This record gives sequence, C-alpha cells and structure tokens, in this order.
Amino acid sequence: MTYTEEWWKSAIIYHIYPRSFQDSNDDGIGDLNGIRSRLDYLKWLGADAIWLSPVYPSPMADFGYDVSDHCDIDPMFGSLDDMDRLIEEAHLKDIRLILDFVPNHTSDKHPWFLESRISRNNPKRDWYYWKDPADNGGPPNNWLSRFDGESAWKWDERTEQYFLHTFLVEQPDLNWRNPDVKEAMLNILRFWYDRGVDGFRVDVSYRVMKDPQFRDNPVNPNWKPGMDKSFRLIEKQTKNTPDIHMFNRWIRQTNDEYENRVTIGEMNLTIPELAGHYGTKENPEFHLPFNFRLVFSDWEADNVRQLMDTFEEEVPDYGWPNWVLGNHDQPRFATRAGANQARNGLLFLLTARGTPTLYYGDELGMQSVDIPPEKVQDPWEILSPNMGLGRDPVRTPMRWDATKHAGFCGNEVIPWLPVGYGSDKQNVDVQKSEGQSTLNFVNRLSRIRQDHSELVSGNCETLKLDKPVFGFIRNNEETNESCLILMNFSSQPQTVDIQSALSKSHSLKAYSATFSTCVISTKMDSKTEHSVNSDTFSLRPNEGVILK
Ligand code: GLC
Ligand code: CA
Repeated sequence: MTYTEEWWKSAIIYHIYPRSFQDSNDDGIGDLNGIRSRLDYLKWLGADAIWLSPVYPSPMADFGYDVSDHCDIDPMFGSLDDMDRLIEEAHLKDIRLILDFVPNHTSDKHPWFLESRISRNNPKRDWYYWKDPADNGGPPNNWLSRFDGESAWKWDERTEQYFLHTFLVEQPDLNWRNPDVKEAMLNILRFWYDRGVDGFRVDVSYRVMKDPQFRDNPVNPNWKPGMDKSFRLIEKQTKNTPDIHMFNRWIRQTNDEYENRVTIGEMNLTIPELAGHYGTKENPEFHLPFNFRLVFSDWEADNVRQLMDTFEEEVPDYGWPNWVLGNHDQPRFATRAGANQARNGLLFLLTARGTPTLYYGDELGMQSVDIPPEKVQDPWEILSPNMGLGRDPVRTPMRWDATKHAGFCGNEVIPWLPVGYGSDKQNVDVQKSEGQSTLNFVNRLSRIRQDHSELVSGNCETLKLDKPVFGFIRNNEETNESCLILMNFSSQPQTVDIQSALSKSHSLKAYSATFSTCVISTKMDSKTEHSVNSDTFSLRPNEGVILK
C-alpha cells in the first residue's frame, strides 16, 4: 500500500457499526468477514479509511463498549485471524483501518476488575476507583452516571466500598493515574499498531481524567424535570478537566512511536473547547478531536455558517479540522434535518475543509428507524425509556438489496435489529442503478474531491448571504483553483447574486472571477448548468451545488 504521511487529512473516514453492516454466517449479527466482503463497495464509494466500533470480546452490556479483553476479537464478530485478513485486504485496496479504543472503563467481567473487586488489598484494587462512603453514609460524591442519571457510584457488598461507573454499572471506570493501568492500556495500542492498524478513535477521551480530589459537580440551574437526568449537574469535575491533556499526550506519544497513524478523540464539546485537544505544536495531542457540532446544532443556514466560521477561527495552524454528520449514538442526519436536506448535509461533509467522517447508511439517506418496544436492545433506552435517548434507531442493518432483510442477513434469519420500512427501495442495489440517487451523488462527490485539490487542501471562507442559503469558497492558493459551494436550506427557490456576495467580503473580492460551471448538483441532473450566468445563480428548492 502507498503510505503517505498525513493521509488522514485527505481521507474520507467511513464509520462502520460492525453489528449492523454485514452478517456473513447467518446469526443475524454483522461480523468482520461481512465487512471484508464489502470492501469493494467501500472502495467504489470513495472510503479511504474505515473505523469500526468495538469488536473486542465483550458481554455486550453496552454492545462492545464494555470490553472484557482488549487484545482479541469477540467470537460473534470473528477471530484475530479474521481481523488480520481484514487489515491485509483493506490495505491491498488502499483502505486504512481504524479501531475503537475504550480507555475510560472496562467491562465488569474484565479479569482486571474481577481481581480488583476481590479484596481491598488486591494488587489490582487501585486499577479502578474504589471509595469509602461519604460521612453521611451515601456515595463518596454527587457524580451521576450518563446512562440513568443516578449515582455513578455502586456499592459493592463484598469489600464494603463503592466503585465508580460513568456509564453502566457493568462499565467500571479505570484509574489512569495508576502507572500500571496507563502502561497496560498503552500496550494495547501497541498490540494493534503492531498488527497494522492505522489509528484509533478514542472513546469518550474527554472523560478519562477526573478531578483527583473527587469534588462534587455543581448543580445545573438550567435543568428541568423531563430533561436527561444526568444533566442535573454541570460536569465540571468529570469531563474536560485540566489533566485531560496529560492523557491526550500519552495517547499521542504512543501513536507517534509508529509511522503514519492517526488518533481521533471522541468529545462532545464546543468548538473552542475541542480546539484545546489539538495540544500545542511542541506537544501535540489528538490529530482529530471529533467535531460533533453539526450533530447537535439545528441544520439552519446561519447556524452552519457560524459553525464553519468558528471552526476556521479556532483550529490552530498546526491543526486540521474535521466534521461529523452522524454516528451510532445520535439520530440519523436525514431524520434530524429532514430527508430533503440529506444531500446538502453530505455535500457539506465532503466539501468543508477538514476530514469527513461518514456514518454507514448515510450515503443512502437512511433515516432513524422506529423500533417496536419488544425489539429494543439499547441499555440507554431500557434505563431511560421514551425520552428519545435510545440508539437502536440509528444502528439498524445496512441496506444492501431488496430482499427481506435488505441483504444484511439471510431471509430465514432474524437480524438483531429490524431493517425497517422502505428498504426495498432504499438500498445499495437499487440506488446504484438509479443515476440520480443519493448513493451515486456520494460516489460522484468523492471522485470530485479527488479531482479538485482545492476541496481537500484549499482554504475555506464563508459568504455572507442574507437568505436561507449557505455558501463557502474553497481555494487552493498554489494552483489558484477555486470552487464555490452553495446550499439552499429552504423548500423555496433562491437566487443568489454571487458577485455582490463576494464583494461584501474583503478577502473574497479577489475571487471576482466568475463561477460558470456547475460541477455537481444535489439533484444529479444537468439542468442547473444552463441557469448559471456570471452574476446570479438560481437554486431549486433544497438544492446544493458546487460551482467552478
Ligand atoms: C461513547 C460511545 C457510546 C458508548 C459510550 C460508553 O459515547 O460512542 O456508544 O455507549 O461511549 O462507552
Ligand atoms: Ca454474523
């Protein structure tokens, strides 16, 4: 494979939820061989790297985010040999492989925790957070679990102490201040790097270092009954604490023992906050601190412009932006923004400056799927029912064809989550054959990225448009090539006076050159090409375009 340094800057990262991508042995659960059988599809689509949510041995209390052995593969997903084959075949196709690393907690069935809980003087005791009750006899402090909003401390009868679990009781938090934990965990990264893995997405990295004094979190004055109970407190002492940068650097330094690997930190933070996770030039931290702002903001032209402006302002010059449209924890983009805007979301993702991470199925415009109560799997939905927190709707099987279970598994098999309504039309087979489909749109867009270096490495500046239209310019200063991207966020036609928009910005005046060719429209037809003239451009309802 042709390794180029910093390949992750130009890469499209494709996020696979392994349980749901492709079942190869008809047990209704996706697996590694299933993923391997779809590498040609991923290549065709334009994926340069795939990131797999956890595939390690796990009791699956949190579907793999409760790891019981970090250096093996759960038999449900295959074997270490299967992983080696996947890495090898992906590399032959020039596709990198990124794994999930879960440092904040292990499964309560992990041998480390089983030992730790035996006695107060077990050598592994201090690998987790064990504490005596507070003076009043209750939990050591007021910290809350993310999943049920109740105390994050669980009383353990045997040794009469509490242990900390930020997520499920089955996910006790690891104590990274213990040097043995740090060493054991960093060795896990080395284990996989040695096997050829190209990088890690680090699960809830921003929560790993807690306040060393275990001080209470302050009460959140804005919380109201009916809201997620874990937000009753402001998570001052439990996330994004000052010591987090120490952890980030450990990860990065271990990564940098190897060549051309990438580290991605999972953090739900504002842009100024997450920008701190690039570290400094001398002491770099994450290559890509995940930017979830598109996931948590309304899809509205002004909002999106502000997000892009803020990111462009905040990313240090040695850092590289990134954008995420959706993931395995949040409602599907096509549901949040509406099906009519799905392609504009993809257009943004693949043309904004920074590395895009595309969630599987979004290339089809997949929407969140309603899960009947008896089919619910996600512990979050079970612990906090009917609050819209459950994640099953975004984890439904990938849709490959028009068969009963969309080609995810055999017709006689029951998939672990239902495929959902409409998969007979919305699937890879059908969309490949429809010239104007969302899938073909993504395929073409990924080729356009390859052919227009300005869309990858060019600088980026937004236009001030007082309409439900968002626009920005990507310009490669070296080649002097530029593209203008416009998106109509409304269901009404919109006319944009390009010259006047450009003239409003000092730095954009230079681009008075006309954008006269439509490279692609979200409508995937050639109509637009005829409506371009040098001054104005008419966008159809919900249309997005790249002009050159
Ligand atoms: C992250 C994962 C989520 C998981 C949680 C606990 O937020 O994305 O799926 O449940 O961490 O590991
Ligand atoms: Ca399977």
